[in-house]
Amino acid sequence: MLPQLGRAAMLPLWTAQLATGTKSFERNGIIGSAWLNRHGLHTARVSLAHRIAAARRRRLSGLVSARDREDFARDGFVVRPDFLPAAEFATLLDQVKSYRGPLREITEGDTILRKIALDPKTLAVLPGLARLLDAPEWRGLIRYVGGRDAEPVVWIQSILRHACDGPPDPQTALHADTFHPTVKAWLFLTDVAADQGPFTYVPGSQRVTPERLAWERRMSLAAARSPNAENRQGSSALSQANCRRWACPSRASSRCRPTPWSSPTPSASMRAARASGVPCGSRSGPMAGGARSCPGPGSTLGPGPGWRGAA
Ligand SMILES: [Fe+2]
Repeated sequence: MLPQLGRAAMLPLWTAQLATGTKSFERNGIIGSAWLNRHGLHTARVSLAHRIAAARRRRLSGLVSARDREDFARDGFVVRPDFLPAAEFATLLDQVKSYRGPLREITEGDTILRKIALDPKTLAVLPGLARLLDAPEWRGLIRYVGGRDAEPVVWIQSILRHACDGPPDPQTALHADTFHPTVKAWLFLTDVAADQGPFTYVPGSQRVTPERLAWERRMSLAAARSPNAENRQGSSALSQANCRRWACPSRASSRCRPTPWSSPTPSASMRAARASGVPCGSRSGPMAGGARSCPGPGSTLGPGPGWRGAA
């Protein structure tokens, strides 16, 4: 009786959350309802979110070049080698390496992430990063790919794989972060070796095809009771076979393979990818940076207050 009363009390909140980015199948009884999802609730949310983002992106199309729009439409990401001139990049790297300040540490599986929030006070002593974040090219790409004219949350980030005891890092398996379009971008401060878990993206997997929607529907029916915690929270794990089947039907098969971004790509490259509803295995090695960037390998930044949470 009590659990039923509790669910009834939650109904107004759960209903209101349908119009937001809330994605947890486990915590929202409406979003997680197998009956509603069998009748199209989840797939309707996916389709609507993508249509809204596409309309917003059309309005923001003047912020990026025709080439960027073309690359993004085809692959779901934009790669920009040598995003900064060499001298500017060297200055930025020096400033980041010599920065000393508080940071937060997160563990996810056997990976440790160290993050420095780039608030105005921090950016005041990192003028190279402040200039980058103010650059029209950066601002335009972030806004266009994300389909939102809004400031992104930006970090300096170090990712240390196999750095602590724990189960395998769930971010290293191909997955779709969420059901709705969003954006992630990195300015890599160092190269990331292939065996260090470079960010990986399935080209073309941003498209909402009938195959994709069929998969979304199947996944949504069982997600609330999935043994996989990430699935229950709305980040859906994908098999590589699944990706190949529906990621990019019009492309040659070699292009359908997940694309790792790793060495020997220039460390100054910038990559902006649509991470929503898009299968991505992400762990960008020990040193990945940018909108999520990171301190140099010699950084002596100490761990901040313990902070565990999903990345
Ligand atoms: Fe992820």
